[in-house]
Amino acid sequence: MGHWQEHGFGLWAFHDLHSGEFVGRAGLKWYDLPGLDGRREVGLAYAVPSRFWQRGFATEMASGALSVGFGAGGLPAVGSWTLPGNIPSQRVMEKLGFRYQTDFEFAGLPHRYYRLEPGGFSPQRVGDPNPSVPG
Ligand SMILES: CC(C)(COP(=O)(O)OP(=O)(O)OC[C@H]1O[C@@H](n2cnc3c(N)ncnc32)[C@H](O)[C@@H]1OP(=O)(O)O)[C@@H](O)C(=O)NCCC(=O)NCCS
Repeated sequence: MGHWQEHGFGLWAFHDLHSGEFVGRAGLKWYDLPGLDGRREVGLAYAVPSRFWQRGFATEMASGALSVGFGAGGLPAVGSWTLPGNIPSQRVMEKLGFRYQTDFEFAGLPHRYYRLEPGGFSPQRVGDPNPSVPG
């Protein structure tokens, strides 16, 4: 909430349209990255309760956040990073168009760093016959 108040954006909570059940959170936040030349940049974050994994929810939530960030937010790029063993998270990034850049240390652990600019963004929605929809 502090991030929303300070910057006007942050993480959203997502709920199933029909049941109203909480299905995850995702959004954009400013991060300090001392392991990446001290860079400060907007990063993408997402998490889904395990009972809802592998239904495309993280990808769709992240896609919505990126549409706002690149659209109304006018961001020139967004970073995202994850542990080397977190294959599902890397797959989420790749589906959205993120490209792997380098390895770096974050929160004391090795991470894989990805980056996305608006031109490379591939919006995604659950259940689309054609997964690439106009932003
Ligand atoms: C990472 C996480 C958000 C993914 O959520 P999700 O809703 O299951 O993600 P999606 O369904 O949108 O996409 C997952 C993709 O990974 C793939 N995947 C899952 N497990 C996999 C595995 N072991 N090997 C290869 N691919 C795998 C899925 O098949 C899917 O790809 P596809 O659409 O091409 O089939 C979820 O696992 C999570 O919340 N983990 C804990 C928190 C976390 O790690 N957050 C990210 C921190 S960087």
